[in-house]
Amino acid sequence: MTGKLSGKVVIVTGAGGGVGEGIARLAAAHGASVVVNDLGGSPTGEGSDQRTAQRVADDIVAGGGKAVPSFRSVAEWDSAHGIVQDALDAFGRVDVVVNNAGILRDVIFHKMTQEDYELVRAVNLDGVFYMSRAAAPHFKEQESGCFVHMSSTSGLIGNMGQANYSAAKLGVAGLSKSIAIDMKRFNVRSNCIAPFAFTRMVGTIPANTPENQKRLEVARRMTPEKIAPLAVGLMFDEAADVSGQIFGARMNELILFSQNRPIRTTQTSDGWTPQAVVDTAIPAFRPSFTENHISSQVFTWDPF
Ligand SMILES: NC(=O)c1ccc[n+]([C@@H]2O[C@H](COP(=O)([O-])OP(=O)(O)OC[C@H]3O[C@@H](n4cnc5c(N)ncnc54)[C@H](O)[C@@H]3O)[C@@H](O)[C@H]2O)c1
Repeated sequence: MTGKLSGKVVIVTGAGGGVGEGIARLAAAHGASVVVNDLGGSPTGEGSDQRTAQRVADDIVAGGGKAVPSFRSVAEWDSAHGIVQDALDAFGRVDVVVNNAGILRDVIFHKMTQEDYELVRAVNLDGVFYMSRAAAPHFKEQESGCFVHMSSTSGLIGNMGQANYSAAKLGVAGLSKSIAIDMKRFNVRSNCIAPFAFTRMVGTIPANTPENQKRLEVARRMTPEKIAPLAVGLMFDEAADVSGQIFGARMNELILFSQNRPIRTTQTSDGWTPQAVVDTAIPAFRPSFTENHISSQVFTWDPF
C-alpha cells in the first residue's frame, strides 16, 4: 500500500482491540508497516492471549497491508525494549510509537489496594516511559520520530473511583511534555490524545452511580475507530512541528486541551504568615478556584 506513511514503521501498543486496533488499521491503510503489539490480557490486566494481536496483524496483511504481531508487555523495561526490537527485526527501523496499551481497576479511593494502584501505574504510566525510552535512541540517531500517547480526561479533568488511573494518565501528560522539550533537538515530537470511545475497557466501569450509568449509556454509542484519524494525522510529516500538545477525540469532535499556567498571583512586601495566607491569599484566589468536576460535568452534551 502507498500513502503518506509509506516507508514508516509504526508501533501501536495495545492494538489487539479498541482504540489501538483502529489506529493500527488506519496507519496500515496509509502505507505504514505496523507492529501490532498486545499482551492480550483482561481489561484489569490478568492473563495473556496471543490471538489478540495475531488477529489484527493477520487482517491487515490479508487486506494488502504490512503488519507483524508482537505479544510482549509494555509494563517492564526489558519487554518494552523487546517490542522496539520486534519493529527493528521485522522492518529495520521505527518511526512512530503509539503508547495506547492500558488497563483499568476502578475502585473508590479508600478501598484501593496497593496492587490496584501499582498494576494500573505499571501499564498506563511506566509502560509509556519504557516504550518511549526504548525508542528514544533510535529517534535520536535518525533525527526524527513521533510519539502519540493515550491520556484520559480522568486525569486531565477528574473522575470518580479512578485515583490510580487518573494519576497515571496525568503522569502521561507530564511525561509527554518532558519528552517534547528534551527531544525537540532531534526533531522528535510527542503529543497526547484523550480518547472517548466505547471499548471493553469502558465496559468495566461499574454502573453503580447515576453519573456512571449516564456515562456508560453515552459511551456505548462511541466507536473507537473515530480516534484513529487524529492519531494518524499526527504521524504525517505535515504535523512534524506539532509537539507537547494534548488533544481529545469524541466521535466527530476534536478537542485541544488547555495546559496549566498561573491564573492569579498575589504578593506582600513583608512575606507571608499562615494567618495572612488564610486572611488574604485564599480570598484573593477563591474567585478563580477550579471546581472539582468529573469529566462528564465538563463534557455536557453528547456528540451525536
Ligand atoms: N475508551 C475510552 O473511552 C478511553 C478513554 C480514555 C483513555 N483511554 C485510553 O485509551 C487506550 C486504549 O484503551 P481502549 O479503550 O481501547 O481499551 P482496550 O482494553 O480495548 O485496549 C487496551 C489494550 O491494551 C492491551 N494491554 C493491556 N496491558 C498491556 C500490556 N502490559 N502490554 C501490552 N498490551 C497491553 C490490552 O490487551 C488491550 O487490548 C488506553 O490507554 C486507555 O486508557 C480510553
